[in-house]
Amino acid sequence: MDLQLQGKRALITGSSSGIGAGIARTLAREGAAVVVHGRNRERAHQVAEQIRNHGGRVQLAIGDLTDDAQARQVAQAADAAFGGIDILINNAGGAAGQQQQDWMGTTPEVWAATYQTNVVSAVRLIRYFIPQMKQRGWGRIIQLASASATQPLPFSLPDYQASKAAVVNFTVGLAKYLGGTGITVNTITPGTILTPALERTFRDWARARGWGDDWDVIERRAVAEMFPNPSGRVGRIEDIAAMAAFVASPMAGFVNGANLRVDGGRVPTIN
Ligand SMILES: NC(=O)c1ccc[n+]([C@@H]2O[C@H](COP(=O)([O-])OP(=O)(O)OC[C@H]3O[C@@H](n4cnc5c(N)ncnc54)[C@H](OP(=O)(O)O)[C@@H]3O)[C@@H](O)[C@H]2O)c1
Repeated sequence: MDLQLQGKRALITGSSSGIGAGIARTLAREGAAVVVHGRNRERAHQVAEQIRNHGGRVQLAIGDLTDDAQARQVAQAADAAFGGIDILINNAGGAAGQQQQDWMGTTPEVWAATYQTNVVSAVRLIRYFIPQMKQRGWGRIIQLASASATQPLPFSLPDYQASKAAVVNFTVGLAKYLGGTGITVNTITPGTILTPALERTFRDWARARGWGDDWDVIERRAVAEMFPNPSGRVGRIEDIAAMAAFVASPMAGFVNGANLRVDGGRVPTIN
């Protein structure tokens, strides 16, 4: 299927690593001009070089999106890179505190920092790009959420989980607000995705439990114990990138205000 992304211009925040980098690579392969963004210039540069070496059109925008002035610079650099942005993918995100932080260990300062990273950063860019998307009568705004937005866990990162719920919520409100403008707004909810950090964790478990070194065996057993899902594996960055490319494309014009799960069937409810 031709996704008709040729000629579209996309800013993918947090594309200096992980899922964002995968989305940038996939959109570029489909013919979109992409702006790679991160705080770390070196890492962002490496992703951009990879895309360029494969024939993609790519520019960089660097800055911390929790800061008003830097976020504006990122937006302006992305805007100038190819003369406008048609597709905004708010992927940058994470938790401001420690990984195993529980409710009482999460201070108000950490809550505020996580909301800045996951919610307000996206809002800054959305507010910048809406007017030009409206003027063109076409646009795509996509946020990366989390299964914990709708299935919060009791033991860790309450700030992260609640901030992702806020993202899912504002997506629906914004889709309605932008009704009739040609701009769609959606969230993609990844399941557990294989990143270098997750692979290290799985290999640590395998060593402690005597599962050996074979990655297929380790993944199958770790998923069965920790992340059971009908697909029997964790997700790959490409699984999320493929969904992002479709939702960003003109082919997905009737997908609007949706929270699209790409989690191998892990969330155990009908919808
Ligand atoms: N991986 C998963 O299993 C999973 C599951 C559910 C949801 N998600 C969501 O998917 C998204 C990507 O996850 P990932 O695992 O690929 O993350 P990652 O590898 O940790 O990458 C995060 C990216 O966000 C950027 N970033 C973080 N804070 C920023 C800030 N304040 N300003 C500007 N950029 C910032 C980082 O930039 P620098 O490194 O250059 O600083 C990096 O490019 C996140 O929103 C995450 O919550 C991931």
